[in-house]
Amino acid sequence: MSTVYLNGEYLSKDRATVSVDDRGFLLSDGIYEVTPAYRGRLFRMDRHMARLQHGLNALRIDYDTEGLEDVHDRLLAENELTDTDVATVYVQITRGVAPRTHHFPPAGTPPTVYACAHVFRRPDPERWEQGYSAITVPDRRWARVDIKSIGLLANVLAQQAAVDAGAANALLVKDGVALEGSHNNVFGVFDGVVTTHPATHEILHGIGREFVLELARGLDMAVEERSIFVEDMRGADEIFFTGTTTEVIPTVTLDGQPVGDGAVGPVARALYEAFKAGVVAEVAVG
Ligand code: PDD
Repeated sequence: MSTVYLNGEYLSKDRATVSVDDRGFLLSDGIYEVTPAYRGRLFRMDRHMARLQHGLNALRIDYDTEGLEDVHDRLLAENELTDTDVATVYVQITRGVAPRTHHFPPAGTPPTVYACAHVFRRPDPERWEQGYSAITVPDRRWARVDIKSIGLLANVLAQQAAVDAGAANALLVKDGVALEGSHNNVFGVFDGVVTTHPATHEILHGIGREFVLELARGLDMAVEERSIFVEDMRGADEIFFTGTTTEVIPTVTLDGQPVGDGAVGPVARALYEAFKAGVVAEVAVG
């Protein structure tokens, strides 16, 4: 049984319980973050915590993320994940426990803080080389998806639509624009230009997305952050998704039609290799 963190305590997962009056349970009134660790070292923890703090501030949940790095480190240690190639730490903060009202609970209601750590298994290289499929799904989320809210109903339905269609990823489309995946960001490659939607309120500002943009620049690839119409995306030479639990996943069919020549492309391959090497190099220097 894994060890989890709940409201200041480390305990066995089967002993961790939250109230049915928790506003996360009743109202999805909370926020979360997922941070990767490579051989036990957290990758870009400062950025993950900055994103979490940005969300907490936007939702007016009074909580300081300062102490969370220690919680993450201890969960990796307690769950024997310090020698694991890739692990992830999930943290969720809700507006706490109070009788259900739409407005905020009384001032001073303590937030509920839960965290857990898991192994992350990369796909077999042979599987990755075959590439993956994606389908387009209308983006029915709210207007502040830069906040990593636990209210993920539209993401859940989009990803289930992909699973029902036998696809790996859902590409969310709003007003004709291909924004991101249900749980990852998306890139298209057009005549060698590595292109992704700008970091607006319409996408989550993925830390993987930012890293991949840096890697592309470092490999002397041209990069561009702009809106991509889904009809243009269908004509991309390559499409790939990025994220903490995605890393780099190449898409070889979109809505059943081949992307480019229907095989994994050189840009996705180069960026995936650079990603795997880059995370290890970066955590090694601290
Ligand atoms: N998802 N877009 C959405 C909607 C996401 O939920 C995520 C992350 C990303 C990628 O962000 P990052 O590169 O920082 O992981 C983009 C997490 C992993 C999840 O929901 O489990």
